[in-house]
Amino acid sequence: MEKVYGLIGQTVSHSFSKTYFDEKFFRDGLRDHRYELFPLKDIKEIETLFKETKGLMGLNVTVPYKEVVMKHLDEVYPVAKFIGAVNVIKISNGKKIGFNTDSDAFYETLNHWLPKGKTYQAIILGSGGSSKAVQKALKKKNMDFKLVSREKKKGDYTYEDLKKNPKIITDTKLLINTTPLGMHPNNDDYPPIEFSQITKEHYVYDLIYNPARTVFLQKAEMHGATIKNGLEMLHVQAEKSWEIWNS
Ligand SMILES: NC(=O)c1ccc[n+]([C@@H]2O[C@H](COP(=O)([O-])OP(=O)(O)OC[C@H]3O[C@@H](n4cnc5c(N)ncnc54)[C@H](OP(=O)(O)O)[C@@H]3O)[C@@H](O)[C@H]2O)c1
Repeated sequence: MEKVYGLIGQTVSHSFSKTYFDEKFFRDGLRDHRYELFPLKDIKEIETLFKETKGLMGLNVTVPYKEVVMKHLDEVYPVAKFIGAVNVIKISNGKKIGFNTDSDAFYETLNHWLPKGKTYQAIILGSGGSSKAVQKALKKKNMDFKLVSREKKKGDYTYEDLKKNPKIITDTKLLINTTPLGMHPNNDDYPPIEFSQITKEHYVYDLIYNPARTVFLQKAEMHGATIKNGLEMLHVQAEKSWEIWNS
């Protein structure tokens, strides 16, 4: 029987995942594998999808369903519970199990990117699902970090605190943007930090992959920082979905 995988979300028409898996299935000669787009107007529609899609083996999950999908699953892995978001579902003998691959993917890309054997103090902008994935990865790397949030109670600093104490950025050499500021179609947005504090010793990572060079990354690069976008993380994360579906 044909094996079906796919992506659920509200708007899934320009999906990286479909292109990625279509190419992978073609390249690996997996002619009985299919990757479908499943736009859902309401998460409740996932029940019909589960019932009616013959051969359904796995799903990726995108906005806005990463959190609400949990109550439609039989089991959610602890990492996904901690992060508060599921981005991969495996269907095995009718059982639906939720996973999150963002933390492992971020960890792997950080290892590829940062100079070996060095640890950095980090600042994470944003406190949502992807921020929690990044926090988990940094803990695994034994790296200290501070959280920046719009709300005092959700982080260590607010954006105003960073403006008032320029030394915070000067002394913290790894900056990670986990906010959606600058993501297509709002390409002109960027997190409100003081870029003049950034130096050539800084490493600046933006989880956004579209556009490839956000204003955040452009401004950081103008001040000499080494920059990285979210594309590799997206690739690694997709490959980890594949590993989960085949485990
Ligand atoms: N490359 C990858 O594989 C990958 C994986 C996951 C996510 N991402 C990208 O990461 C980004 C965030 O994803 P997410 O799921 O974590 O999103 P999210 O939960 O909607 O937002 C993350 C956090 O950003 C902050 N934020 C939101 N809107 C803001 C605004 N207008 N101004 C300032 N801060 C704002 C909020 O933190 P505070 O309330 O604390 O300020 C929020 O909790 C997206 O662009 C997504 O595409 C990439």
